[in-house]
Amino acid sequence: MYEKGGRITREGIRIHEPGDFAGMHAAGQVVAEILDEIGPHVVPGQTTAEIDRIITEMVAARGATSATIGYRGYQHASCISVNHVVCHGIPGPKALKDGDILNIDVTVIVDGWFGDSSRMFVAGTLSRRAERLIQVTHDALMKGIEAVKPGNTFGDVGHAIQSFVEAHRMSVVRDFCGHGLGRVFHAPPNVLHYGRPGREAMLEEGMFFTIEPMVNLGRPETKVLADDWTAVTRDRSLSAQFEHSVGVTADGVDIFTLSPAGRFHPTWR
Ligand code: MF3
Ligand code: CO
Ligand code: CO
Repeated sequence: MYEKGGRITREGIRIHEPGDFAGMHAAGQVVAEILDEIGPHVVPGQTTAEIDRIITEMVAARGATSATIGYRGYQHASCISVNHVVCHGIPGPKALKDGDILNIDVTVIVDGWFGDSSRMFVAGTLSRRAERLIQVTHDALMKGIEAVKPGNTFGDVGHAIQSFVEAHRMSVVRDFCGHGLGRVFHAPPNVLHYGRPGREAMLEEGMFFTIEPMVNLGRPETKVLADDWTAVTRDRSLSAQFEHSVGVTADGVDIFTLSPAGRFHPTWR
């Protein structure tokens, strides 16, 4: 439950108070540290179940709680989406192969605040095609974040992402979006990664949300597998995603999930 303070816009978006940023920073930094430290475990031969087991231990070691274990029946501390899996890949016994690219998405709760972030990793050798996809997806997220400031709209954010991705002849997934968060995991608004300038709700200081574009080398259409979670590209083309949790400040944006080791960007290695 929310205590007193803050308000809700007409669109149902919570406006947080200045003191709430500290809680989001603490939660965001726990996720960022975990993603920094999981990198060395992403190697050919490793299973995604083992990577998830290590993440589960890292969450506990920091006194945090996994937001995904028990969420709508989900049973893991991470989503691990390999190659043509767009998002919500379920960790399992399949071993990574040389050249696999994967998104690892972790959400934790620290003192009631949610931190949600994901990055791309590679097992072994990175192909030129995959490298290009990962770079464009990373840069698209950053273009979206650059559009975050009071007075801009969510349409401006979506447009910044879509126009950048399409200029590189790649496609933006429409079937999944970012979301408001704070003391809850998924709240209004739906943060679309496509759109038109000036459309959608106005950004205001104190809004907290994720931006998490999924970009495909082929067509944007997805389908969800029989496990009811795993989303894949319909044309089986390669897909990538990066996610940050951010807050709108008086003159711009505060990124809660920045990597303390500077390893968010795909060229860390
Ligand atoms: N972390 C994902 C997001 O960015 C949500 C995962 S929900 C789960 O919103 F249940 F699949 F883990
Ligand atoms: Co999210
Ligand atoms: Co996430």
